[in-house]
Amino acid sequence: MLKAVILIGGPLKGTRFRPLSLDIPKPLFPVAGLPMIQHHIEACTKVFGLNEILIIGAYPKNDLAQFVHEMSSTYGIIIRYLQEFTPLGTAGGMYHFRDQIRSGSPTYFFVMNGDVCADFPLQEMLEFHSSKQALLTIMATEATRQQSLNYGCMVLGKEGEVAHYVEKPSTFVSTLINCGIYIASLELFQTMADVFYVNQQQDHIMQLCGNGRDPAHIAFEQDILTRLAGSGRLFALPVFRWWSQVKTAGSAIYANRHYLALYKQKKPNRLASTSSHNCCIIGDVYIHPSAKVHSTSVLGPNVSIGPNTIIEPGVRIRESIVLANAHIQAHSLILYSIIGTGTSVGEWARVEGTPCDPNPNKPFAKMENLPLFHTNGKLNPSITILGTSVSLAAEKVLLNSIVLPHKELTRNYKNEIIL
Ligand code: GDD
Ligand code: GTP
Repeated sequence: MLKAVILIGGPLKGTRFRPLSLDIPKPLFPVAGLPMIQHHIEACTKVFGLNEILIIGAYPKNDLAQFVHEMSSTYGIIIRYLQEFTPLGTAGGMYHFRDQIRSGSPTYFFVMNGDVCADFPLQEMLEFHSSKQALLTIMATEATRQQSLNYGCMVLGKEGEVAHYVEKPSTFVSTLINCGIYIASLELFQTMADVFYVNQQQDHIMQLCGNGRDPAHIAFEQDILTRLAGSGRLFALPVFRWWSQVKTAGSAIYANRHYLALYKQKKPNRLASTSSHNCCIIGDVYIHPSAKVHSTSVLGPNVSIGPNTIIEPGVRIRESIVLANAHIQAHSLILYSIIGTGTSVGEWARVEGTPCDPNPNKPFAKMENLPLFHTNGKLNPSITILGTSVSLAAEKVLLNSIVLPHKELTRNYKNEIIL
């Protein structure tokens, strides 16, 4: 038997994803028509013998209750949400809920960061891990020298053994990075227990000095991976399939494109086509069955349209995500943008953002995930985001802007955050 743990953080995380995470927990933000972590769940359901998924995070239970219920009934496996009373770090939550993970004695369990997207190589990791008798195997990939500093970096010894691990090093260590996807044996809890007791003793002293961290906080990367490196039981499996973090709204557009491309390979009936949807479809497009798209509109490539959205005549949408209940009025144009739930775009309006893809001239380049503002105080050019229930008047132009929920826009905007 196998299990999987998906780490989703809590409402205090995902700040670079605002304002999209103001109304919906970031792990449930739809990418290619499915909540972000449904892609993780789908990948898990393809692994033979994996029949329980535990989602661990600090979001209130109610935020995830309906999603968990729907997922269990859609995929017919046990899915549960375990809520941390306070963020306990990437391993603290797993240690806190260790009995739930260990119950039923799974041979191994996967651990997946909820904020990554990928063509998850879970089966390969399972085979590699069991062939090595490893305690923990990390999915690894290549990054550029400069970008590697934003990730966990590893130096490999013989046969994939991790000799050295540094989390987000300040100077260059290696271009081989941690993808935030792992497979572990149950003995890993012994390592966590050792760390827990050491931390407890240290934190007891620190608390006397007034540091506010929870004594049960354990960082998977700094506390566990760094400690296991060089022990001969920590392995990494370098993988060269598509993988990316989803930290910013721009990276959601990038993830959308890649998940749609995966549908084309693996689930082509999820994609819209000109013949089945009676409108012009270019490239990979997902349209929710309840959305109404006029026959004279042109969608694609790389577009996802959410439930109950209405797309009127002559609309053109490219490289964008339109969420549920939006109303895209006649002849408007949407490029490199995310249109929030219940938002209305007026007739002949133009909503346009700047693509923020990885540098195509650098092999292994990843998304930059820049913060909203440049150090000079100006907005970094990025995709345009319209928050929930925004209304953009007819014939207005909105370029590289971010609009918070419930705004009524009646003039043109360029490079602005509209609060
Ligand atoms: N349950 C829970 N509790 N989850 C958490 C907590 C917590 O206290 N803190 C973070 N997470 C979840 C996040 O939601 C995310 O899915 C994952 O754990 C890692 O989040 P971060 O702590 O923000 O780390 P990171 O994304 O900057 O870096 C990690 O991932 C990289 C790959 O994407 C590290 O593992 C890096 O080494 C790695 O390269
Ligand atoms: P004038 O120069 O005064 O005639 O302005 P105009 O608004 O009539 O013409 P303009 O060329 O500026 O664009 C007309 C409208 O078409 C604008 O609101 C644009 O946003 C919109 N538009 C531009 N490109 C496209 C497109 O490819 N498809 C659709 N549907 N609309 C577009």
